[in-house]
Amino acid sequence: MSQTAIYPGTFDPITLGHVDIVTRASRLYSRVILAIVRSPNKQTYLTLDERIDLAQASLAHLKNVEIEPFDGLIVNFAQQHQAPVLIRGLRATSDFEYEFMMSQMNKMLNPQIETMFMMAGLDYQFLSSSLVKEVSSLGGDVSRLVPSEVFRHLEFKLNNLED
Ligand code: COA
Repeated sequence: MSQTAIYPGTFDPITLGHVDIVTRASRLYSRVILAIVRSPNKQTYLTLDERIDLAQASLAHLKNVEIEPFDGLIVNFAQQHQAPVLIRGLRATSDFEYEFMMSQMNKMLNPQIETMFMMAGLDYQFLSSSLVKEVSSLGGDVSRLVPSEVFRHLEFKLNNLED
């Protein structure tokens, strides 16, 4: 399919759950842009530059995936990039209501843009960036949940904060 799809999120940090979704999307679309929101509604642990660098390092092997920061409405970003598709991952049942609301709102803002949902991989159903940060900050092992670059960065950041 010769189409661009946008995979938006905060990616604070990118996890193996996100990598799973973007890898599968990269097989369906000719170009996938992982769009990292500059100023999310929630406070981030990592700066925008850290979130971008970690996503770039984790996805360098996917040649049709690009990383870009964005401001403002995601539907406007999608339109600017001639992307008719937004990708979102769904975990178990917890994401449904929020994702349903967002997709309806985005549809109202721009009916030309479709949201496509992909079920999160079985191993990643209960994974979230917040849980990764919490477990890592308490000394738990998150090496099976995040790309190795992210694991190293979280360890580095934790050790430097402790100094
Ligand atoms: N595997 C593991 N975890 C996953 C996942 C997957 N497949 N998919 C989502 N998650 C987790 C994330 O880690 C994150 O966890 P956290 O809340 O603990 O940090 C959570 O699910 C949701 O994060 P994410 O997918 O990054 O979405 P978000 O809610 O942070 O981002 C935006 C939402 C940025 C896409 C949305 O707010 C947006 O489009 N903003 C731009 C402004 C706009 O257009 N607003 C109107 C939209 S209707």
